[in-house]
Amino acid sequence: MSILQNISVADRRRSQLDVSTFETLRSFIYDETGIYFQDNKRYLLESRVSRRLKALQLDSFADYARQVTTRRQRAELGHLINAITINETFFFRHQAQYDVLVDHLIPTLIETRGPRCRLRFWSAASSTGEEAYSLALLFEEKVKPQYPNVRLDIVATDIDTNAIQEARDGLYNSYATRNVPKAWLRKYFTEEANGHRLSADIRRQVRFKQVNLADRLAMQRMRNFDVIFCANVLIYFDDTSKQQVVASLYNSLGAGGYLFVGFSESLYGVTQAFHAVRIDKTTAYQKV
Ligand SMILES: C[S@@+](CC[C@H](N)C(=O)[O-])C[C@H]1O[C@@H](n2cnc3c(N)ncnc32)[C@H](O)[C@@H]1O
Repeated sequence: MSILQNISVADRRRSQLDVSTFETLRSFIYDETGIYFQDNKRYLLESRVSRRLKALQLDSFADYARQVTTRRQRAELGHLINAITINETFFFRHQAQYDVLVDHLIPTLIETRGPRCRLRFWSAASSTGEEAYSLALLFEEKVKPQYPNVRLDIVATDIDTNAIQEARDGLYNSYATRNVPKAWLRKYFTEEANGHRLSADIRRQVRFKQVNLADRLAMQRMRNFDVIFCANVLIYFDDTSKQQVVASLYNSLGAGGYLFVGFSESLYGVTQAFHAVRIDKTTAYQKV
């Protein structure tokens, strides 16, 4: 029998994700991360988790579910989370939000805090770092020349440790950098065989760490931010976890601070705690 035939027999032997194991894994993932797999996402979960079955040479999803849900398997929980997250992102994803930030909100914040203030930004669910680095680049190019004495701290967090590692490496393909102005690409990136590497100077301006948005205690430690981007992640949560995460983000903002969600997302029906600031068809949610 050829190796290929062997592999396909092994793959066929590997069971499918039956409804009851799907429900076990779904509620485990939900409790740990807030991510909720709808019924119609069973095959998506099956294909994501099947990578872990292969890695562990397990034949059945039920065996995998038993293993990962035992208390001793914290390391496997990390692998499971890395396997199920969707990390789609790119530089300057929603230019209109960055324009509002630079043209309106940052000047307002500086007016209140004074020309020598330190601003604190947080890219919550930063994936591979493009959002946080977009903020760092904007600050270099658009804010510093006008306000040379204002300093900026950028914290970027994600639950996915692989994504965080990639963010720290700062190597991006042409899909990720397609919205970066050509002059900035030349100024801040170096071309390598596999893409463009962001300069160490910009990379140093962002502090990456793992934070699970659904972990209330970890979220309580994130404090006094002036601007938070929490974009394109609430869509993976159900209403209850959305409300919990948004309440945590509210507490993480300083008075007058702003929260951005994804350009096509809204906090309508999630919370009324914020004042919605509408500028040029973009909404920023202000803690008043
Ligand atoms: C689609 S990406 C969004 C990246 C970026 N914010 C953007 O808008 O381009 C979603 C990210 O959310 C992260 N994520 C999902 N659940 C999370 C949780 N409970 N805590 C922290 N990050 C989470 C995923 O790992 C993934 O990197």
